[in-house]
Amino acid sequence: MFPLILLLLALFNCHGLVSCLNNEGYALLSFKQSIYEDPEGSLSNWNSSDDNPCSWNGVTCKDFKVMSVSIPKKKLYGFLPSALGSLSDLRHVNLRNNRFFGSLPAELFQAQGLQSLVLYGNSLSGSLPNQFGKLKYLQTLDLSQNFFNGSIPSSTVLCKRLRALDLSRNNFTGSLPAGFGASLVSLEKLDLSFNKFDGSIPSDVGNLSSLQGTADLSHNLFTGSIPASLGNLPEKVYIDLTYNNLSGPIPQTGALMNRGPTAFIGNPGLCGPPLKNPCSSVTDGATAPSSIPFLPNNSPPQDSDNNGRKSVKGRGLSKIAVVAIIVSDVIGICLVGLLFSYCYSRVCQRSKNRDGNSYGFEKGGKKRKECFCFRKDESETLSENVEQYDLVALDAQVAFDLDELLKASAFVLGKSGIGIVYKVVLEDGPYFSCEKIG
Ligand SMILES: *[C@@H]1O[C@H](CO)[C@@H](O)[C@H](O)[C@H]1NC(C)=O
Ligand SMILES: *[C@@H]1O[C@H](CO)[C@@H](O)[C@H](O)[C@H]1NC(C)=O
Ligand SMILES: *[C@@H]1O[C@H](CO)[C@@H](O)[C@H](O)[C@H]1NC(C)=O
Ligand SMILES: *[C@@H]1O[C@H](CO)[C@@H](O)[C@H](O)[C@H]1NC(C)=O
Ligand SMILES: *[C@@H]1O[C@H](CO)[C@@H](O)[C@H](O)[C@H]1NC(C)=O
Repeated sequence: MFPLILLLLALFNCHGLVSCLNNEGYALLSFKQSIYEDPEGSLSNWNSSDDNPCSWNGVTCKDFKVMSVSIPKKKLYGFLPSALGSLSDLRHVNLRNNRFFGSLPAELFQAQGLQSLVLYGNSLSGSLPNQFGKLKYLQTLDLSQNFFNGSIPSSTVLCKRLRALDLSRNNFTGSLPAGFGASLVSLEKLDLSFNKFDGSIPSDVGNLSSLQGTADLSHNLFTGSIPASLGNLPEKVYIDLTYNNLSGPIPQTGALMNRGPTAFIGNPGLCGPPLKNPCSSVTDGATAPSSIPFLPNNSPPQDSDNNGRKSVKGRGLSKIAVVAIIVSDVIGICLVGLLFSYCYSRVCQRSKNRDGNSYGFEKGGKKRKECFCFRKDESETLSENVEQYDLVALDAQVAFDLDELLKASAFVLGKSGIGIVYKVVLEDGPYFSCEKIG
């Protein structure tokens, strides 16, 4: 009798007010329950009275199985529940730029068909579980801009289909797992920057022959020398090794050749071209042939790629160079000042002269004269329109800057022996007359 009532109740539940939600729907509802704040109501239609979770916001299904959960940039505040891992056909999770906190639940890795896990820009923390190796189909792992710590689990090398690995801007430590480069043969994007990775750069990183763009290992604590095998990376790959603790000569092979110093700055121990810091004869070897040890200005010429200029601001700048720049700046400013005051007095003189022989344009009467003086050679900001003439405001009650002036409409009033007289109408009404002196 009692079981029968239960059965009836169950039937009533399924076809009454509350409809039958499948297991996947319940898994998604438990995800919703782990979210404390949803200020934009992004999950408002995640509702048990709707028995088809495939129609919910951010959920995509294939053959009625949840294939992707994608809710980026919705200010969701909560933690990642383990229930996500029970979505057996889950392929894509994209929860980037929300406010998720807490750690990655180990159960998530039961969703072994996962192909992309994009969680960047949250507040997730803790270390990565070693179950990562279970994700044999994982192609994209983007955990950047979180608070993850600990080291990269050694099992990550089992994710052989991985094409993009972005762990930048976290608190990861430790060295890269053995076989990192030899195993992740499909890796196209690698960004490990702004962490605390240490140890040496494994030489098999040079075996990542599918890499593209920038291989970014910058802003870490990598030590030791740069493996010459990094030169085996595709020629077009830009290897960013800046701000580590690398030392020794920079191998001049393949992809490492013809790089500007900007790829290497911030490693006090690095030496040889393209850096100005020559290798001492002890560590030198054959890499920096012409440099005499400890003679600062004897380094080979900077290479000419366009990164070269930026490096002037880098650590390589000597004190002498800094002083020279400051001194030349001061001299430059003085020169401009002198030219300006010369200009000013000349122009004022002319304007005064002209007060006598009236040209017939308006003057406010009570105002005092102001003089404006531009000369192209002195100022890079001067627009082409002003050409190489001096520009003089004859009736300058109105304060104006060059931008305003160029927007204003100008009328030629006439030519005089000295130059061309313009009338300029500014946007906000008041007008005055100007003169170009030829
Ligand atoms: C679910 O939807 C029903 C009707 O559409 C509504 O009355 C109920 O409040 C909703 N529940 C939640 C939790 O949003
Ligand atoms: C990294 O950890 C340190 C303490 O160990 C902490 O002060 C810092 O805020 C953390 N940074 C990030 C990005 O998690
Ligand atoms: C990671 O950070 C947590 C605190 O958020 C700390 O308890 C834990 O010890 C850290 N783990 C490692 C490996 O640094
Ligand atoms: C890595 O590359 C080097 C040289 O290109 C090669 O000799 C070596 O066998 C490669 N290692 C693996 C594991 O593929
Ligand atoms: C840099 O590496 C040297 C050894 O090469 C080590 O003694 C030193 O502590 C390291 N510095 C930092 C900041 O890790």
